[in-house]
Amino acid sequence: MKKIISILILVGGIGLGAFTIQSCSTSAMVQAKSGAQLWGENCKRCHNVASPSDYSDVQWDVIGTHMRLRANLTADEMRKIVEFLQSAN
Ligand code: HEC
Repeated sequence: MKKIISILILVGGIGLGAFTIQSCSTSAMVQAKSGAQLWGENCKRCHNVASPSDYSDVQWDVIGTHMRLRANLTADEMRKIVEFLQSAN
């Protein structure tokens, strides 16, 4: 019985380690992503995407704050998306 428990703990530890490494590589991937890429991947999940020229720079700032909560993005990801939208309009 003790042996089974220690095997379970070992397997759990490996699983947790793999998960931690995995999440590091994910955040590194996010950092490498451009605003355009993040926009394409996140912003059409719930609705059609608005064209960058549909809104002014100031409006994109406000929409960014609003949609960051909806899309559950980090401040960094949203900054890239808003910068992309502002540069493209
Ligand atoms: C989880 C769903 C969801 C995601 C993901 C999402 N949106 Fe939205 N979006 C909404 C909803 C719902 C509305 C309607 C307004 C409201 O009730 O918030 C909306 C409205 C908008 C509007 C209209 C203006 C406004 O603020 O109401 C724009 C522009 C917009 N979204 C852009 C974006 C961009 C850019 C992204 C990517 C960063 C994004 N959305 C991601 C749900 C989402």
